[in-house]
Amino acid sequence: MLDLMIRNANLADGRQGIDIAIRGDRIVEVGERIEADARETLVLDNWLVTPPFVDPHFHLDSALSAGRPRVNRSGTLLEGIEIWGELAPTLTPDDVKSRARELCLWSIARGCLAIRSHVDVTDDSLTSVDALLELRDELAPWIDLQLVAFPQNGYYRHADSRSNMIRALDKGVDVVGGIPHFERSTAEGTASVRELCELAAERGLLVDMHCDETDDPLSRHVETLASETQRLGLQGRVAGSHLTSMHSMDTSYVSKLLPLMLEAGLTAIANPLINIVIQGRKDDYPKRRGMTRIKEMITAGIPVALGHDCVMDPWYGLGSHDMLEVAHMAVHVGHMTGVEEMEAVFDGVTSVAARTLHLDGYGVAPGCFADLVVLQARHPAEAIRLRATRLHVLRRGAMIAQTAPEKVALSLGGKRKMIDFLEDGPQ
Ligand code: FE2
Repeated sequence: MLDLMIRNANLADGRQGIDIAIRGDRIVEVGERIEADARETLVLDNWLVTPPFVDPHFHLDSALSAGRPRVNRSGTLLEGIEIWGELAPTLTPDDVKSRARELCLWSIARGCLAIRSHVDVTDDSLTSVDALLELRDELAPWIDLQLVAFPQNGYYRHADSRSNMIRALDKGVDVVGGIPHFERSTAEGTASVRELCELAAERGLLVDMHCDETDDPLSRHVETLASETQRLGLQGRVAGSHLTSMHSMDTSYVSKLLPLMLEAGLTAIANPLINIVIQGRKDDYPKRRGMTRIKEMITAGIPVALGHDCVMDPWYGLGSHDMLEVAHMAVHVGHMTGVEEMEAVFDGVTSVAARTLHLDGYGVAPGCFADLVVLQARHPAEAIRLRATRLHVLRRGAMIAQTAPEKVALSLGGKRKMIDFLEDGPQ
């Protein structure tokens, strides 16, 4: 006897009218017209069923702190770092935990059930590290939190970063972070990439560095990141986040760089909502968009995942942790409006992001966890266009969030009409 049968689902790979059989916390069968009894059945109207959204780049420690202790008037990355520097020493574990917990509830409601969050290790008290490690365990039944030890004020530039990094990893932080473009010199940035990759290799950990988050085309730490990944045999275990300088690089240099990244099995993580508002701030017109070259990287075969980065913090005062909003912005900023391009962007907030985190049991296939999201859309491009309502969110086979379908009742000249913005009209 099955616990749940989902009938008549569309899948992101294009299959339509598919049944998904669930026993306990796992999917046991996926196919057309499965014949089996189930305790419960959910009959869909060809809605798109996808494994959960995954956010591969976020900052839970600063989330929902916008305006504290002051607003970011210039809107720049550097003023954001200054404001965070003022706020961080005043944080208490309860404050960090309650803001991060609230953000995670928003995330679950939006169907995002895994977040890789950077956590600042340049606050010597490691208050945020302790708070988020506790929250990771507390919320584990519903959402996977993966933490990155992130030296926000520099690995060499901040006096105690190196010892703080070790302390944070010893406490159980999962991933080694870095910020080479923020070190005092290019040479120190290069050295930080080398030392941090060595640290990850020694400990068998993944790497995810904020890398070249600048409009300066000469910020080329991603090259070192690719080369260290090769040297240390870390292929498939290293991500470069942001990579915004690539937007401004000379194309002939990029034509050398992309094959190096591919060879190294590097993953690129772009953060389109943040990149579009933070980068290009000092430009006169025309203003650069600042997002890394996702179209070219996807064409070259480099995995591209897309992150939210911030929600209501010193760098970005907007957002509700909706990964479809991230995908929507990526499509626009990256000129990714072709049907296959939109599918690749959808993958960037689902399957590619899941691979970046090395998540186990992810997917809509027998043996995978029954972690699923039912969207009020029939295919990925429609989901992105509508930032579709998450009708049902399942975790380990249990329904953990539901939202009523979007439907608007119009009254025009005495006539009533229902609309739902779908391609094929109201259901
Ligand atoms: Fe970030």
